[in-house]
Amino acid sequence: MISFCGIELRHPIVNASGTFDAIAARRAFGDALLAEFPFAAFVSKTVTLAPRQGNPPPRLWELGAGMINSIGLPNKGLEGYLAHDLPQLAELPVPLIVNVMGSAAEDVVRLVEAFGDRDEVAALELNVSCPNVKTGLLMGADPGETAALLDAVRPHTRKPVIVKLTPNCASPAAVAAAAEQHGADAVSLINTLRGMAMHPRRPGEPWLGGGTGGVSGPAVRAVALAQVREVRERVRIPIVGMGGVQSGRHARDLLDAGADLVAVGTETFRDPLAGARIAAELLRIGANSGMFTGAPQPARPRIAQGG
Ligand SMILES: Cc1cc2nc3c(=O)[nH]c(=O)nc-3n(C[C@H](O)[C@H](O)[C@H](O)COP(=O)(O)O)c2cc1C
Repeated sequence: MISFCGIELRHPIVNASGTFDAIAARRAFGDALLAEFPFAAFVSKTVTLAPRQGNPPPRLWELGAGMINSIGLPNKGLEGYLAHDLPQLAELPVPLIVNVMGSAAEDVVRLVEAFGDRDEVAALELNVSCPNVKTGLLMGADPGETAALLDAVRPHTRKPVIVKLTPNCASPAAVAAAAEQHGADAVSLINTLRGMAMHPRRPGEPWLGGGTGGVSGPAVRAVALAQVREVRERVRIPIVGMGGVQSGRHARDLLDAGADLVAVGTETFRDPLAGARIAAELLRIGANSGMFTGAPQPARPRIAQGG
């Protein structure tokens, strides 16, 4: 067992928000899913105050090493989620982390209060990849915006609050430091990187209905490693590392870069039970870890810029 923000977990592998639909998986696998749930905790897709339709199609573009999605966070909204999804997710045999997002601090406060009151919810994850309607700034791209959001939210819940950082900003590490100073219990990273695909038949037009989308999968793994390492050098709170993890080796690398947990996202589109496989692979690597290490190594150089 490992402890994350006071929550007991069987192993360090969880799902990345929005990439594993536990309710649909239960329909596909039946109660076998409950007997052998592939993740140590379940992270919900993003919930917003009002229902959202999401972006117009097409919503996906496959890349050589991952994909671009412009799903646009469709969801039933707070009331629909509490009525329909929460009772089903409460049956899962693992702790539930609810991911929320709002375009104003007051919206996020209402979401955090509503879920903070529920015993079924172990922790909250704040998706800050959203522009603030008042300032126009991306909440998670600016340390001041993130600090202001946490100042508003923190007094309203005693549950652990995880801030999901965006890689689409000048310094995720500076945002992580602001989150820590203003009461975050943990940070998670990386969210998707902004990208686009051109329409194969209509020159100059984007393929995705949303224009741009979020790049995920193996293509972003090296970015995730660098950002987790940078964030680890700035904060002491736990880190949930993610981005392109397909194997126990990839998970091990993120843990070695400074993560405490690892989330698996895009890989579950190829293998819905990837979480269990990656956790088992990680355990085997752990058992072998003495093999090549020998004497303790001197400290590695700090991060340098590429040239
Ligand atoms: C189809 C899809 C939907 C996603 N939905 C959400 C979401 O609702 N909320 C969120 O915070 N992140 C969302 N993400 C981002 C993932 O949680 C994760 O941060 C990112 O995909 C990197 O991990 P990966 O390379 O293992 O997929 C989504 C990603 C994908 C591919």
